[in-house]
Amino acid sequence: MKKKIAVLKGDGIGPEIVTEALKVLKKIGEKCGHEFETEELFFGGASIDKYGEPLTDETLNICKNSDAVLLGAVGGPKWDNVDKDKRPEKGLLKIRKELGLFANLRPTKLYKELENSCPLKKEIIKSGIDFVMIRELTGGVYFGKKETKEVDGMIVATDEMKYTEEEIRRIGVIAFDTARKRNKKVTSIDKSNVLDTSKLWRKIMHELSEKYSDVKYEDMLVDSASMQIIKNPSGFDVVVTENMFGDILSDEASVLAGSIGMMPSASLGSTKLGLYEPIHGSAPDIAGLNISNPIGTILSVAMMFRYSFDMENEALLIEKAVEKVLADGYRTTDLFVEGTKKLSCSEMGDTISKTI
Ligand code: IPM
Ligand code: MN
Repeated sequence: MKKKIAVLKGDGIGPEIVTEALKVLKKIGEKCGHEFETEELFFGGASIDKYGEPLTDETLNICKNSDAVLLGAVGGPKWDNVDKDKRPEKGLLKIRKELGLFANLRPTKLYKELENSCPLKKEIIKSGIDFVMIRELTGGVYFGKKETKEVDGMIVATDEMKYTEEEIRRIGVIAFDTARKRNKKVTSIDKSNVLDTSKLWRKIMHELSEKYSDVKYEDMLVDSASMQIIKNPSGFDVVVTENMFGDILSDEASVLAGSIGMMPSASLGSTKLGLYEPIHGSAPDIAGLNISNPIGTILSVAMMFRYSFDMENEALLIEKAVEKVLADGYRTTDLFVEGTKKLSCSEMGDTISKTI
């Protein structure tokens, strides 16, 4: 099968991790007889440097006309002082919005081999950690009206948080459908004791839970959820929450997987076109040192096969290879402990590709 993939390496460690993910893509192509046409495009800070904006219309159009988008990371201190509407992060928000990618799937899985890298006690992790956070991605406070103005000599800043019932329903449907394919449990996280958006969120989720009577359903307040992720992570199967709560809680969850460098994500909408990126940032402090962990990006490629290409076998080949390489004791710097074998970013990419 032939597929077209737009590749946005971005900034910081973005180029190194995506380079490794492309090796894996190439290997799958050879092994399974697929053809991948990749087109590399400037994005984020790199695009600001070249074109003066983080995402050009041309880049956006190429992404829209691709089967999938593979992304590294954006941002860095170099662009901290650019106009707020031209920051690298704005490019990321714009591409999510323009491609209609309202559902961000962030699986948290603690591999057996990495149990030593998980900071939780053995008795807490003994039942395993394997859940997926489904973060609403194109609504809420990220996309509400923003304003900073002076009122009676005082500077006042406002960020509006808004959700329509339709935005809530469509992410809820994704959560319940996902749960049906997993362990049939949905935890919806909100702050309905304070926020109107959360009250509406909870109402719509309850309506859906009645239609999905085969799926166990629970509500959880976001403050309490942040405790439960640490106290009882095995209690989660599918977690669904709004944009900003999901941003915060998914970083918290990533610690459980041993390193944020392990965490992939898929951003999906109502078509097969998806965007795949690790959840970590551009890590400018280690950029160019070839010590970053490419596994989050490589696992994002596995998600690309699963969700955009409907190629479950290819997805499993990648996931199994990652597991095997970890079982063989290979680690990048972030995961390294005494008794394991330390690999650079490029060596990790090579080792996983060879294992496939
Ligand atoms: C993420 C990132 C982004 C977000 C930033 C870079 C805008 O933290 O993908 O989690 O907040 O969505
Ligand atoms: Mn984040």
